[in-house]
Amino acid sequence: MVPTGCQPVKDESATISGPVQVDLRSPFAIGPVSIPTRLVLAPMAGVSVQAFRRQGRRFGAGLVCSEMVSCAGLHNGNERTLGYLTISSDEQPLAVQIFGADPGVMAEAGRMVEAAGANLVDINFGCPVRKVTKTGAGATLLDDPDRACRIVSAVAGAVSVPVTVKMRRGLEDGSRACLDVGPRLVEAGAAALTLHPRSARQMYTGWADHSLTAELVDRVDVPVIASGDVTSRASAQTVLATTGAAAVMVGRAAQGNPWALREILDGGTSEPSREEVVAELLLFVRETVRELGEQRATGFLKKFYGWYLGRGRFPKPFKQELVQLGSVEEVERRLLAAAPGAVEVLERIEAEQPVAEETLLEDMPISIYGGG
Ligand SMILES: Cc1cc2nc3c(=O)[nH]c(=O)nc-3n(C[C@H](O)[C@H](O)[C@H](O)COP(=O)(O)O)c2cc1C
Repeated sequence: MVPTGCQPVKDESATISGPVQVDLRSPFAIGPVSIPTRLVLAPMAGVSVQAFRRQGRRFGAGLVCSEMVSCAGLHNGNERTLGYLTISSDEQPLAVQIFGADPGVMAEAGRMVEAAGANLVDINFGCPVRKVTKTGAGATLLDDPDRACRIVSAVAGAVSVPVTVKMRRGLEDGSRACLDVGPRLVEAGAAALTLHPRSARQMYTGWADHSLTAELVDRVDVPVIASGDVTSRASAQTVLATTGAAAVMVGRAAQGNPWALREILDGGTSEPSREEVVAELLLFVRETVRELGEQRATGFLKKFYGWYLGRGRFPKPFKQELVQLGSVEEVERRLLAAAPGAVEVLERIEAEQPVAEETLLEDMPISIYGGG
Protein backbone atom coordinates (compact mmCIF):
# COMPACT_ATOMS: atom_id res chain seq x y z
CA MET A 1 0.00 0.00 0.00
CA VAL A 2 1.29 3.46 -0.80
CA PRO A 3 0.81 5.63 2.28
CA THR A 4 -1.18 8.78 1.65
CA GLY A 5 -0.60 12.36 2.73
CA CYS A 6 2.94 12.65 1.46
CA GLN A 7 2.85 15.35 -1.15
CA PRO A 8 6.16 16.19 -2.76
CA VAL A 9 7.17 19.81 -2.39
CA LYS A 10 7.74 20.79 -5.98
CA ASP A 11 8.68 24.35 -6.67
CA GLU A 12 6.91 24.89 -10.00
CA SER A 13 7.72 28.58 -10.02
CA ALA A 14 11.44 27.82 -10.16
CA THR A 15 11.19 27.14 -13.89
CA ILE A 16 9.16 30.27 -14.61
CA SER A 17 10.87 33.07 -12.71
CA GLY A 18 14.20 31.65 -11.58
CA PRO A 19 14.90 29.62 -8.47
CA VAL A 20 12.67 30.43 -5.52
CA GLN A 21 14.12 30.06 -2.05
CA VAL A 22 12.65 27.19 -0.07
CA ASP A 23 12.06 27.81 3.62
CA LEU A 24 14.34 25.24 5.21
CA ARG A 25 12.55 25.74 8.51
CA SER A 26 9.17 24.69 7.12
CA PRO A 27 7.85 21.21 7.92
CA PHE A 28 7.12 18.37 5.54
CA ALA A 29 5.57 14.97 6.01
CA ILE A 30 6.42 11.36 5.27
CA GLY A 31 3.08 9.57 5.53
CA PRO A 32 1.71 10.55 8.95
CA VAL A 33 5.15 11.53 10.30
CA SER A 34 5.70 15.26 10.46
CA ILE A 35 9.29 16.41 9.97
CA PRO A 36 9.81 19.91 11.40
CA THR A 37 12.55 21.12 9.00
CA ARG A 38 13.81 20.38 5.48
CA LEU A 39 17.17 19.22 6.81
CA VAL A 40 17.88 15.53 7.37
CA LEU A 41 21.00 14.21 9.07
CA ALA A 42 22.49 11.40 6.97
CA PRO A 43 22.91 7.82 8.16
CA MET A 44 26.62 7.14 8.42
CA ALA A 45 28.13 3.84 9.53
CA GLY A 46 30.67 4.38 12.29
CA VAL A 47 29.38 7.90 12.87
CA SER A 48 25.62 8.06 13.49
CA VAL A 49 25.63 7.07 17.15
CA GLN A 50 22.96 8.43 19.45
CA ALA A 51 25.16 11.38 20.51
CA PHE A 52 25.51 12.39 16.84
CA ARG A 53 21.79 12.13 16.23
CA ARG A 54 20.76 13.98 19.38
CA GLN A 55 23.25 16.73 18.58
CA GLY A 56 21.87 16.90 15.03
CA ARG A 57 18.36 17.40 16.39
CA ARG A 58 19.57 20.15 18.74
CA PHE A 59 21.16 21.95 15.81
CA GLY A 60 17.99 21.82 13.72
CA ALA A 61 17.91 18.56 11.75
CA GLY A 62 14.22 17.69 11.31
CA LEU A 63 14.95 14.00 10.92
CA VAL A 64 17.90 11.90 12.06
CA CYS A 65 18.86 8.38 11.01
CA SER A 66 20.68 5.48 12.56
CA GLU A 67 23.54 3.95 10.68
CA MET A 68 22.66 0.87 8.65
CA VAL A 69 21.77 -2.10 10.84
CA SER A 70 22.18 -5.67 9.63
CA CYS A 71 18.88 -7.54 9.47
CA ALA A 72 20.82 -10.79 9.86
CA GLY A 73 22.42 -9.43 13.04
CA LEU A 74 18.99 -8.58 14.42
CA HIS A 75 17.63 -11.97 13.38
CA ASN A 76 20.51 -13.75 15.15
CA GLY A 77 20.12 -11.65 18.29
CA ASN A 78 23.65 -10.27 17.96
CA GLU A 79 24.14 -8.12 21.05
CA ARG A 80 26.01 -5.31 19.33
CA THR A 81 23.46 -5.12 16.52
CA LEU A 82 20.60 -5.02 19.02
CA GLY A 83 22.41 -2.11 20.68
CA TYR A 84 21.64 -0.02 17.58
CA LEU A 85 17.98 -0.19 18.54
CA THR A 86 18.39 1.92 21.67
CA ILE A 87 16.43 5.05 20.92
CA SER A 88 16.06 8.16 23.02
CA SER A 89 12.84 10.23 23.00
CA ASP A 90 14.68 13.46 22.11
CA GLU A 91 15.95 11.96 18.85
CA GLN A 92 12.51 11.61 17.37
CA PRO A 93 11.53 11.73 14.59
CA LEU A 94 14.11 9.06 13.89
CA ALA A 95 14.60 6.61 11.04
CA VAL A 96 16.40 3.35 11.70
CA GLN A 97 18.01 1.98 8.57
CA ILE A 98 18.21 -1.75 7.87
CA PHE A 99 20.04 -3.69 5.20
CA GLY A 100 19.75 -7.23 3.91
CA ALA A 101 18.68 -9.24 0.89
CA ASP A 102 16.00 -11.58 2.24
CA PRO A 103 12.47 -10.11 2.26
CA GLY A 104 11.32 -12.27 5.19
CA VAL A 105 14.30 -11.45 7.40
CA MET A 106 14.04 -7.77 6.46
CA ALA A 107 10.34 -7.80 7.45
CA GLU A 108 11.26 -9.29 10.82
CA ALA A 109 13.95 -6.60 11.25
CA GLY A 110 11.38 -3.94 10.35
CA ARG A 111 9.09 -5.19 13.12
CA MET A 112 11.94 -5.02 15.65
CA VAL A 113 12.85 -1.51 14.56
CA GLU A 114 9.25 -0.37 14.93
CA ALA A 115 8.98 -2.02 18.36
CA ALA A 116 12.13 -0.17 19.44
CA GLY A 117 10.39 3.15 18.77
CA ALA A 118 11.61 4.24 15.33
CA ASN A 119 9.23 6.57 13.51
CA LEU A 120 10.38 5.36 10.10
CA VAL A 121 12.00 2.19 8.81
CA ASP A 122 14.55 3.04 6.15
CA ILE A 123 15.91 0.43 3.75
CA ASN A 124 19.46 0.65 2.41
CA PHE A 125 19.79 0.15 -1.36
CA GLY A 126 22.87 2.34 -1.54
CA CYS A 127 25.77 0.79 0.33
CA PRO A 128 28.62 0.28 -2.17
CA VAL A 129 30.95 -1.60 0.20
CA ARG A 130 31.89 -5.08 -1.01
CA LYS A 131 31.29 -6.72 2.35
CA VAL A 132 27.62 -5.73 2.00
CA THR A 133 27.09 -5.96 -1.77
CA LYS A 134 28.53 -9.48 -2.00
CA THR A 135 25.63 -10.67 0.19
CA GLY A 136 23.17 -9.27 -2.37
CA ALA A 137 22.30 -6.30 -0.12
CA GLY A 138 22.86 -2.54 -0.42
CA ALA A 139 23.39 -1.01 -3.86
CA THR A 140 23.36 -4.43 -5.60
CA LEU A 141 19.60 -4.44 -5.23
CA LEU A 142 19.36 -1.65 -7.79
CA ASP A 143 20.37 -4.34 -10.31
CA ASP A 144 17.67 -6.68 -9.03
CA PRO A 145 14.52 -4.51 -8.93
CA ASP A 146 12.15 -7.46 -8.46
CA ARG A 147 13.88 -8.49 -5.25
CA ALA A 148 14.15 -4.86 -4.15
CA CYS A 149 10.38 -4.49 -4.56
CA ARG A 150 9.73 -7.72 -2.69
CA ILE A 151 11.83 -6.42 0.20
CA VAL A 152 9.99 -3.08 0.34
CA SER A 153 6.63 -4.77 0.07
CA ALA A 154 7.48 -7.30 2.82
CA VAL A 155 8.73 -4.62 5.22
CA ALA A 156 5.82 -2.25 4.47
CA GLY A 157 3.39 -5.11 5.08
CA ALA A 158 5.04 -5.94 8.42
CA VAL A 159 5.04 -2.51 10.07
CA SER A 160 2.60 0.33 10.58
CA VAL A 161 5.17 3.14 10.42
CA PRO A 162 6.19 4.46 6.97
CA VAL A 163 8.92 2.60 5.11
CA THR A 164 11.45 4.64 3.15
CA VAL A 165 14.35 3.74 0.85
CA LYS A 166 17.77 5.32 0.42
CA MET A 167 19.57 4.53 -2.82
CA ARG A 168 22.38 5.45 -5.20
CA ARG A 169 21.87 6.29 -8.88
CA GLY A 170 22.87 2.73 -9.84
CA LEU A 171 25.88 0.45 -9.78
CA GLU A 172 27.91 1.73 -12.70
CA ASP A 173 29.01 5.24 -13.61
CA GLY A 174 26.37 6.98 -15.70
CA SER A 175 23.66 4.53 -14.58
CA ARG A 176 20.09 5.86 -14.43
CA ALA A 177 18.72 2.77 -12.66
CA CYS A 178 17.31 4.83 -9.81
CA LEU A 179 14.80 6.44 -12.20
CA ASP A 180 13.31 3.07 -13.17
CA VAL A 181 13.60 1.41 -9.78
CA GLY A 182 12.39 4.41 -7.73
CA PRO A 183 8.78 4.49 -9.01
CA ARG A 184 8.55 0.70 -8.62
CA LEU A 185 9.68 0.96 -5.00
CA VAL A 186 6.96 3.54 -4.38
CA GLU A 187 4.39 1.19 -5.90
CA ALA A 188 5.71 -1.52 -3.57
CA GLY A 189 5.09 0.71 -0.55
CA ALA A 190 7.95 3.19 -0.10
CA ALA A 191 6.61 6.40 1.46
CA ALA A 192 9.70 8.46 0.59
CA LEU A 193 12.93 8.02 -1.34
CA THR A 194 16.37 9.42 -0.59
CA LEU A 195 18.68 9.63 -3.58
CA HIS A 196 22.45 9.93 -3.37
CA PRO A 197 23.07 10.35 -7.10
CA ARG A 198 26.54 8.85 -7.33
CA SER A 199 27.09 5.36 -8.68
CA ALA A 200 28.18 2.63 -6.30
CA ARG A 201 31.39 2.39 -8.30
CA GLN A 202 32.10 6.06 -7.62
CA MET A 203 31.99 5.50 -3.87
CA TYR A 204 32.51 9.13 -2.76
CA THR A 205 34.53 10.45 -5.68
CA GLY A 206 33.29 12.98 -8.25
CA TRP A 207 30.06 14.81 -7.64
CA ALA A 208 26.47 13.92 -6.85
CA ASP A 209 24.49 14.56 -10.04
CA HIS A 210 21.32 16.17 -8.74
CA SER A 211 19.80 16.45 -12.21
CA LEU A 212 18.83 12.82 -11.52
CA THR A 213 17.19 13.93 -8.27
CA ALA A 214 15.07 16.38 -10.27
CA GLU A 215 14.06 13.62 -12.70
CA LEU A 216 13.16 11.30 -9.84
CA VAL A 217 11.00 14.01 -8.24
CA ASP A 218 9.07 14.21 -11.52
CA ARG A 219 8.47 10.48 -11.57
CA VAL A 220 7.14 9.81 -8.06
CA ASP A 221 4.40 11.25 -5.88
CA VAL A 222 6.18 10.81 -2.56
CA PRO A 223 8.79 13.11 -0.99
CA VAL A 224 12.31 12.79 -2.36
CA ILE A 225 15.25 13.67 -0.12
CA ALA A 226 18.40 14.85 -1.89
CA SER A 227 21.70 13.53 -0.51
CA GLY A 228 25.19 14.38 -1.66
CA ASP A 229 27.52 17.37 -1.47
CA VAL A 230 25.18 19.62 0.50
CA THR A 231 27.62 21.53 2.68
CA SER A 232 26.25 25.06 3.03
CA ARG A 233 23.08 27.11 2.95
CA ALA A 234 23.85 28.10 -0.64
CA SER A 235 24.22 24.49 -1.83
CA ALA A 236 21.10 23.42 0.11
CA GLN A 237 19.02 26.20 -1.47
CA THR A 238 20.31 25.39 -4.94
CA VAL A 239 19.56 21.68 -4.60
CA LEU A 240 16.06 22.32 -3.23
CA ALA A 241 15.20 24.94 -5.84
CA THR A 242 16.57 23.05 -8.84
CA THR A 243 15.31 19.56 -7.98
CA GLY A 244 11.97 20.11 -6.24
CA ALA A 245 13.16 17.71 -3.51
CA ALA A 246 11.27 17.88 -0.23
CA ALA A 247 14.43 18.09 1.86
CA VAL A 248 18.20 17.91 1.77
CA MET A 249 20.30 15.39 3.65
CA VAL A 250 23.67 16.36 5.11
CA GLY A 251 26.38 13.84 5.92
CA ARG A 252 30.11 14.56 5.86
CA ALA A 253 29.71 18.30 6.35
CA ALA A 254 28.18 17.61 9.78
CA GLN A 255 30.99 15.36 11.03
CA GLY A 256 32.39 17.16 14.07
CA ASN A 257 30.60 20.20 12.76
CA PRO A 258 26.98 20.57 13.91
CA TRP A 259 27.36 24.32 13.31
CA ALA A 260 27.09 23.57 9.58
CA LEU A 261 23.50 22.45 10.20
CA ARG A 262 22.65 25.77 11.85
CA GLU A 263 24.29 27.69 9.01
CA ILE A 264 22.32 25.70 6.43
CA LEU A 265 19.06 26.43 8.24
CA ASP A 266 19.56 30.05 9.22
CA GLY A 267 22.56 31.43 7.36
CA GLY A 268 25.08 33.57 9.21
CA THR A 269 28.47 32.41 10.32
CA SER A 270 28.97 28.78 11.20
CA GLU A 271 32.31 29.16 13.01
CA PRO A 272 31.97 28.40 16.72
CA SER A 273 34.26 29.65 19.50
CA ARG A 274 36.90 27.28 20.90
CA GLU A 275 34.83 26.97 24.07
CA GLU A 276 31.78 25.88 22.09
CA VAL A 277 33.82 23.33 20.15
CA VAL A 278 35.26 21.81 23.30
CA ALA A 279 31.88 21.82 25.09
CA GLU A 280 30.17 20.00 22.21
CA LEU A 281 33.04 17.53 21.94
CA LEU A 282 33.00 16.85 25.69
CA LEU A 283 29.26 16.18 25.62
CA PHE A 284 29.75 13.96 22.58
CA VAL A 285 32.50 12.01 24.34
CA ARG A 286 30.45 11.52 27.51
CA GLU A 287 27.32 10.40 25.69
CA THR A 288 29.29 8.04 23.46
CA VAL A 289 31.02 6.45 26.45
CA ARG A 290 27.60 5.95 28.01
CA GLU A 291 26.28 4.37 24.81
CA LEU A 292 29.21 2.18 23.74
CA GLY A 293 31.12 1.67 26.97
CA GLU A 294 34.57 3.18 27.55
CA GLN A 295 36.57 0.49 25.77
CA ARG A 296 34.68 0.67 22.47
CA ALA A 297 34.25 4.44 22.69
CA THR A 298 38.00 5.09 23.08
CA GLY A 299 38.81 3.85 19.57
CA PHE A 300 35.53 5.04 18.05
CA LEU A 301 36.06 8.62 19.19
CA LYS A 302 39.55 9.11 17.72
CA LYS A 303 38.33 10.21 14.29
CA PHE A 304 35.99 12.73 15.91
CA TYR A 305 38.89 14.59 17.55
CA GLY A 306 40.25 15.53 14.13
CA TRP A 307 36.78 16.41 12.85
CA TYR A 308 35.99 18.72 15.79
CA LEU A 309 39.41 20.24 16.36
CA GLY A 310 40.43 20.60 12.70
CA ARG A 311 39.10 23.25 10.32
CA GLY A 312 41.72 25.62 11.76
CA ARG A 313 40.08 25.60 15.19
CA PHE A 314 43.06 24.19 17.11
CA PRO A 315 46.71 23.59 16.16
CA LYS A 316 47.24 20.21 14.46
CA PRO A 317 49.53 18.67 17.13
CA PHE A 318 46.71 19.01 19.68
CA LYS A 319 44.62 16.46 17.82
CA GLN A 320 47.62 14.09 17.60
CA GLU A 321 48.10 14.44 21.33
CA LEU A 322 44.48 13.52 22.11
CA VAL A 323 44.53 10.50 19.79
CA GLN A 324 47.51 9.15 21.67
CA LEU A 325 46.04 9.48 25.15
CA GLY A 326 45.10 6.19 26.77
CA SER A 327 41.86 7.11 28.54
CA VAL A 328 38.81 9.23 27.93
CA GLU A 329 39.40 10.88 31.31
CA GLU A 330 42.77 12.19 30.13
CA VAL A 331 41.19 13.43 26.91
CA GLU A 332 38.62 15.37 28.92
CA ARG A 333 41.33 16.87 31.12
CA ARG A 334 43.38 18.02 28.13
CA LEU A 335 40.36 19.48 26.38
CA LEU A 336 39.34 21.47 29.45
CA ALA A 337 42.89 22.74 29.92
CA ALA A 338 42.83 24.02 26.33
CA ALA A 339 39.51 25.84 26.78
CA PRO A 340 38.55 26.24 30.47
CA GLY A 341 35.53 28.38 29.55
CA ALA A 342 33.96 25.28 27.97
CA VAL A 343 32.65 24.24 31.41
CA GLU A 344 30.07 27.00 31.46
CA VAL A 345 29.06 26.40 27.86
CA LEU A 346 28.62 22.71 28.61
CA GLU A 347 26.48 23.46 31.67
CA ARG A 348 24.27 25.66 29.55
CA ILE A 349 23.88 23.01 26.83
CA GLU A 350 23.03 20.37 29.41
CA ALA A 351 20.50 22.63 31.11
CA GLU A 352 18.80 23.31 27.77
CA GLN A 353 18.84 19.67 26.70
CA PRO A 354 15.40 18.06 27.00
CA VAL A 355 15.10 15.29 29.56
CA ALA A 356 15.19 12.18 27.43
CA GLU A 357 13.58 8.86 28.01
CA GLU A 358 15.22 5.86 26.48
CA THR A 359 13.57 2.88 24.93
CA LEU A 360 15.64 0.16 26.48
CA LEU A 361 15.89 -3.26 25.01
CA GLU A 362 14.63 -4.68 28.30
CA ASP A 363 11.30 -3.01 27.56
CA MET A 364 10.89 -4.88 24.30
CA PRO A 365 8.92 -8.08 24.19
CA ILE A 366 11.40 -10.95 24.37
CA SER A 367 9.80 -12.66 21.37
CA ILE A 368 10.70 -9.69 19.20
CA TYR A 369 14.41 -9.64 19.82
CA GLY A 370 15.11 -13.09 21.10
CA GLY A 371 15.63 -14.39 17.59
CA GLY A 372 13.83 -17.65 18.50
C1 LIG B 1 31.46 7.37 6.80
C2 LIG B 1 30.17 7.24 6.01
C3 LIG B 1 29.28 6.23 6.34
C4 LIG B 1 28.07 6.10 5.63
N1 LIG B 1 27.18 5.15 6.01
C5 LIG B 1 25.97 5.09 5.41
C6 LIG B 1 24.96 4.20 5.89
O1 LIG B 1 25.12 3.47 6.87
N2 LIG B 1 23.78 4.18 5.21
C7 LIG B 1 23.52 4.99 4.12
O2 LIG B 1 22.45 4.93 3.56
N3 LIG B 1 24.46 5.85 3.68
C8 LIG B 1 25.65 5.94 4.30
N4 LIG B 1 26.57 6.87 3.89
C9 LIG B 1 26.22 7.80 2.80
C10 LIG B 1 25.64 9.12 3.37
O3 LIG B 1 24.43 8.87 4.04
C11 LIG B 1 25.42 10.15 2.25
O4 LIG B 1 24.47 9.68 1.36
C12 LIG B 1 26.72 10.46 1.50
O5 LIG B 1 27.81 10.67 2.40
C13 LIG B 1 26.57 11.72 0.62
O6 LIG B 1 26.23 12.83 1.40
P1 LIG B 1 27.31 13.95 1.88
O7 LIG B 1 27.97 14.50 0.66
O8 LIG B 1 26.41 14.96 2.59
O9 LIG B 1 28.27 13.29 2.80
C14 LIG B 1 27.78 6.99 4.57
C15 LIG B 1 28.70 7.99 4.24
C16 LIG B 1 29.89 8.12 4.94
C17 LIG B 1 30.84 9.23 4.58
